[in-house]
Amino acid sequence: MSGKFYVTTPIYYPSDRLHIGHAYTTVAADVLARYHRLKGDDTFFLTGTDEHGQKIQRKALQAGKSPQEFVDEIVAGIKSLWELLDISYDDFIRTTEERHKRVVQKIFRRLFEQGDVYKSQYEGWYCADCEAFYTDTQARERGGVCPDHDRPFERLREEGYFFRLARYQERLLRYIEEHPEFIQPPSRRNEMVNFIRQGLEDLCVSRTTFDWGVKVPFDPAHVVYVWIDALSNYISALGYLSGDPELEERFKRYWPADVHLVGKEIVRFHTVIWPCLLMALDLPLPRCVFGHGWLVLESGKMSKARGNVVDPVELSRTYGVEAIRYFLVREIPFGADGFYSEEALLTRYNADLANDFGNLVWRSISMTEQFLGGVVGMTSRDGVLREAAFRARAAYEEAMEGLRLDEAVGAAMELVRRTNKYLDEMAPWALARDPGSRERLEEVLYGALEAARLASFMLAPVMPRTAALVWEQLGVGEMFPRARWPESAAWGLLPPGVRVRKKEPLFPRRKNSPGEDPGP
Ligand code: MSP
Repeated sequence: MSGKFYVTTPIYYPSDRLHIGHAYTTVAADVLARYHRLKGDDTFFLTGTDEHGQKIQRKALQAGKSPQEFVDEIVAGIKSLWELLDISYDDFIRTTEERHKRVVQKIFRRLFEQGDVYKSQYEGWYCADCEAFYTDTQARERGGVCPDHDRPFERLREEGYFFRLARYQERLLRYIEEHPEFIQPPSRRNEMVNFIRQGLEDLCVSRTTFDWGVKVPFDPAHVVYVWIDALSNYISALGYLSGDPELEERFKRYWPADVHLVGKEIVRFHTVIWPCLLMALDLPLPRCVFGHGWLVLESGKMSKARGNVVDPVELSRTYGVEAIRYFLVREIPFGADGFYSEEALLTRYNADLANDFGNLVWRSISMTEQFLGGVVGMTSRDGVLREAAFRARAAYEEAMEGLRLDEAVGAAMELVRRTNKYLDEMAPWALARDPGSRERLEEVLYGALEAARLASFMLAPVMPRTAALVWEQLGVGEMFPRARWPESAAWGLLPPGVRVRKKEPLFPRRKNSPGEDPGP
């Protein structure tokens, strides 16, 4: 049965060009969105940019540009990166857009009027890169320096507006307890429960030390705290409080979010501030906040400051977009940290894409051309591959629904490997020499072609272009746009009599160390 599916990425800071770590989150969200579209779910996929705050203002100043000019340029680059990586978002929200700012102001006013926001004094240790205040104890524990940004904390004292976070502590804990799927994976849930149990304090939600932000509507010397501004994107983009009936309808249709995909460092904002804000607004809470791990390099976490960022544009140029998407999803157990290296990428490329998947497509089509004149023969009565396909489908679906994207891809690849083994065992080249084995030959090749069709279909959310290409080579290209999960993954849909046609190898093998060959 199909339903609706609303998936989001974090909105990215347009302070620099994005790197492969940002691409990781966005590709994962894209895979989920594409899988749900295949299922026939009414799907909405949102991404965007988080453009306000002191850090951006400072960077713009350094670059000799106005903040708006500065972010406009970077956002244009982000959009073209998503185009390159085939990111199928339905909307791209920028927090500097009027449609967003208006809603943030309405939210702030409503919270103030109903007493969830009040005015008071604030003094604390501030990190402009985190855009967050730290208490005396927290600052002392960190030796006066922000560990994430190597920046000394600044002492700030200001008059500010506060959100009554403490008021929602018990309700939040109860919600997390009653909805075990709300914070995933479970290790992140335990972390958050411990954090909340230590006690939530009211949160300062306005700033006066800079002005690049959404103004507090009734006190314009203050701008809204960037996290309140940013988190609201998930509802402003849908049309919440837009006053436009069509958009409000969109909000009703898609809210609450099914998955907010976020990096582990911002799980806290999404599972403490965000749900409390939604409770204050009387809105349902997202079904799931999934905190994935980081891509780390031998030299540590990727960061512009360390100068160790990996550029997805360059990588795609060398290996192709589809291989990059595949690698990101397959390599790292979804939820855990994972090491990134070009060697690992190359190994995956050669082992999974060239030797296993590409080879299966190539040899099953080549042999059909060579031994059967390119015409798909009779369907197979042989249960081996049918059973392998059945198992792979079940494992794939379970993994996708459980957000274990790496395992879902693994299930498709298991079918690929089983089929290659089957071909080795059945030796169609030997059957072809014996005229009495014609039927058997047709059956064996049918199984291999059908398994290739299925495996590429399972891989379609990750490598949409490759999947379409495989179906085209199998002679069923016109069926691809209408293919649906799980109907089109049933065994035996490849029609006998159809003509296959081989093109160039999908993933030509590469030399064994990065840089050794420039690629095709
Ligand atoms: N603007 C905030 C998010 C607001 S959401 C309401 C923000 N932006 S960010 O640009 O700094 O990072 C966004 C996301 O990029 C992270 O949460 C994470 O998902 C992803 N990643 C950034 N570096 C990463 C890695 N090295 N590895 C994996 N993901 C990484 O935080």
